Amino acid sequence: MSNTAQLILDGKTYELPVIEGTEHERAIDISKLRSLTGGVTTIDPGYKNTGATKSAITFLDGEKGILRYRGYSIGYSIEELAERSTFLEVAYLLIYGELPNEEQFSSWKSEITMHTMVHEEIKNILDGFPSNAHPMGVLSSLVSALTAFYPKSLDPNRSIKQVDLSIARIIAKMPTIAAWAFKNEIGHPVNYPDNTLDYCENFIKMMFATPAETYSVDPVVSDALNKLLILHADHEQNCSTSTVRIVGSSQASLYSSISAGISALWGPLHGGANQAVIEMLEGIKSSGGDTKKYLDKAKDKNDPFRLMGFGHRVYKNFDPRATIIKKAADGVLAKLGVNDPVLDIARGLEEAALKDEYFVSRKLYPNVDFYSGIIYRAMGIPTEMFTVMFTLGRLPGWIAQWKEMRENNEPIGRPRQVYTGHNSRPYMELGER
Ligand code: CMC
Repeated sequence: MSNTAQLILDGKTYELPVIEGTEHERAIDISKLRSLTGGVTTIDPGYKNTGATKSAITFLDGEKGILRYRGYSIGYSIEELAERSTFLEVAYLLIYGELPNEEQFSSWKSEITMHTMVHEEIKNILDGFPSNAHPMGVLSSLVSALTAFYPKSLDPNRSIKQVDLSIARIIAKMPTIAAWAFKNEIGHPVNYPDNTLDYCENFIKMMFATPAETYSVDPVVSDALNKLLILHADHEQNCSTSTVRIVGSSQASLYSSISAGISALWGPLHGGANQAVIEMLEGIKSSGGDTKKYLDKAKDKNDPFRLMGFGHRVYKNFDPRATIIKKAADGVLAKLGVNDPVLDIARGLEEAALKDEYFVSRKLYPNVDFYSGIIYRAMGIPTEMFTVMFTLGRLPGWIAQWKEMRENNEPIGRPRQVYTGHNSRPYMELGER
């Protein structure tokens, strides 16, 4: 196979290098295109064909439904990671490149445990939010606010030690901030972290315990959470991850970059889809279970409605995470003794869509968000917290990608454009317009 590509432009031939990744993905390197051609650029809205970086973190093959973190498979044998490891081990793997040995894991866990509390003054900021504030808005604001409490974290070039400290802090504090955002919404007093518990148990307790009652964490719920967080932990150059990398490329701090990533994740076409899926399924239920009506709406080009939880920019076969979550949903619901009619609607909708020519021809399959909300509901997590749960899972991926971008000394992200506005025109006085 050739390691150069030829571009013929205005009768002139340009040789462009073709690079190949470790999984034999090939890419035409256009990094010198403008200087070679005297300013010609490329255009690719939504970056559907454009690789923004080389990355050694996550590999996914959308045709084969493969997803691997640092070489460890998620698709067919994620059971290896999701069943056997903990979210904190996977976080270490993503961020530092290898699964930790016993000593590394023990010091990583104690580092995280040490930082679970947040500054008391964060509560003052939280109190300033209206009680109906969406927890994603609260989360991104409070993560950004961490920069005020840790000014040494502002300069990402300060030292590796400082960066590692910022990493441990944000992984440790995110569950506390997330649970507090929820408590603010429902008007309950916040809970402080309990460092005798593991990462998932601690979060669940901060979410659901109240001062009025004793609370013990159901292991079915914490196991399910561990699995869901692992499945969401990274997904290469998606919208929020690219946001984190591009914000970080300006040498903004880790906290500011993550805060921007949270905002990107919030949208319904990305992480916000898990909330939108349940709202859609509820809508179908209350309209008498008429799945056909919703399929027709999704197919109607004059209707902006899309079948939430269906389709993916990269997976054009199936989303391996969805397969695992669908299987897990049955188990979790059975173990918790929950009978959710929305699960039947989801199954019916999936079955109908997978037989429908519109969805089949466009290779639209259920994605990770289609079934995750059903498990979250069974765990007692309210709908508006679903995207917050996604954030908790995706955090190590964002950090790993931010760190890789910094270590590779990537240049500031700055796409080009093709200008289509007015040509130069003279200023007109107010009265003449
Ligand atoms: N319902 C109906 N039609 C759809 C859907 C859908 N969910 N998704 C894509 N299409 C159609 C789309 O209208 C287009 O049709 P046509 O070729 O006739 O114009 C075709 O399928 C290709 O779609 P696209 O918009 O070009 O695909 P994309 O890669 O730009 O968008 C997507 C990917 C995930 C934004 C989109 O499939 C979508 O909006 N899905 C619903 C939202 C959702 O579930 N998002 C969660 C994604 S997974 C979690 C995450 O990682 O963020």
